[in-house]
Amino acid sequence: MNRIFIASLGVLALVHTSLSFAENANGKQLYFQRCAMCHGADIKGTGPLAHKSSPPAPDLTTAAFKKRLSDYPGVIVSSVILRPNGDLIPRTLRENGVKIAPFAWGVKDFRDLNQYMTEVIAKAR
Ligand code: HEC
Repeated sequence: MNRIFIASLGVLALVHTSLSFAENANGKQLYFQRCAMCHGADIKGTGPLAHKSSPPAPDLTTAAFKKRLSDYPGVIVSSVILRPNGDLIPRTLRENGVKIAPFAWGVKDFRDLNQYMTEVIAKAR
């Protein structure tokens, strides 16, 4: 009885993990299509375009950025919406011949992207 219960918990955990993974596939895809060429697959500023701009794409897994993110959880989403660095990003993409298709962001897309990046940053050391 106990063993069956424990085994079914294991199955539930698996189902849950794959569900949250599936939910987050959108965030991961957005990140890889629109951010990773600069910020890198590891979000450490290691993408091929990271050093094509001045300043370069920062490592977003540092203790300093983790603190910034916890003090101000909107920092990722607002960096996309408010574009605090003006035309630096579109210009860097243009100068390096990298085209990213225009995209009509929805609230869910911002949440998914934010969740994906926040999780990777939290796990990074
Ligand atoms: C062309 C390269 C490039 C692309 C593409 C790019 N970034 Fe950046 N990103 C930068 C650079 C360079 C900076 C540092 C700019 C500065 O300090 O003014 C930066 C800074 C940031 C920061 C730090 C902001 C802060 O206030 O500390 C965040 C968060 C960020 N980017 C998120 C993203 C997200 C999310 C995407 C994709 C939707 C993205 N970036 C796409 C180059 C890029």
